[in-house]
Amino acid sequence: MDYFKNKASEWDTPMKMEMAEKFVKELLKNYTPGKDQKMMDYGCGTGLVGMQLSKLTRDVVYLDSSESMLEILKQKLGAIKDFSKSIIHGEIHSYNQKDIDLITTLMALHHVEDIESALNHISANILKPSGVMVIGDLKEEDGSFHNGEEIPHKGFNTEKLTAQLQKAGLKVEKTYIYNTLTKQEKTYEQFIMIATKNNDEKATKSK
Ligand SMILES: C[S@@+](CC[C@H](N)C(=O)[O-])C[C@H]1O[C@@H](n2cnc3c(N)ncnc32)[C@H](O)[C@@H]1O
Repeated sequence: MDYFKNKASEWDTPMKMEMAEKFVKELLKNYTPGKDQKMMDYGCGTGLVGMQLSKLTRDVVYLDSSESMLEILKQKLGAIKDFSKSIIHGEIHSYNQKDIDLITTLMALHHVEDIESALNHISANILKPSGVMVIGDLKEEDGSFHNGEEIPHKGFNTEKLTAQLQKAGLKVEKTYIYNTLTKQEKTYEQFIMIATKNNDEKATKSK
């Protein structure tokens, strides 16, 4: 089931755009993408993060499991006549080129059922040696962020997520709260996590 099917056409609200801008701004405080770099926006939705970083990188791969969200992204890229980007409809395992310098994911990881499998795949089959992963997501919450709907993860305990990244061969360099969202008078914290690929391939594979 595509949870985002009926949300796609109204996704790009000022609030969502501001959320993506804040994340990109925070990312840029910690990491400077290179003009020769290839990045992936994982769980890209309508491309709010990737389209900003597109100006600073050589190439962007947009990946998302929702056809409806990607349809809006295609319209947006079409409007600026950018037909050069790869748009992949599917799970993270659909990509295996190991040529990505930077992978970003904003507010998507809590929708991913098997985090361990996704992180292992990113580390082993997506990121180049010394590649970087930047996550923006919710800290643990009580389920009210999605109005009690069934979502794989009610935010994240960043210590537990750090350990999961570590196990997958990704070293967390930094994590901290960078934003607070208010929804129906409740507040939710957003964290950023910056991790680099551990280049000890043997250690990564044996885990
Ligand atoms: C909350 S939206 C965030 C979209 C975008 N990153 C943004 O900040 O506007 C989460 C996105 O993750 C995608 N998603 C959820 N589970 C996924 C999965 N297992 N693999 C790839 N994308 C997924 C959804 O389709 C949706 O577009």
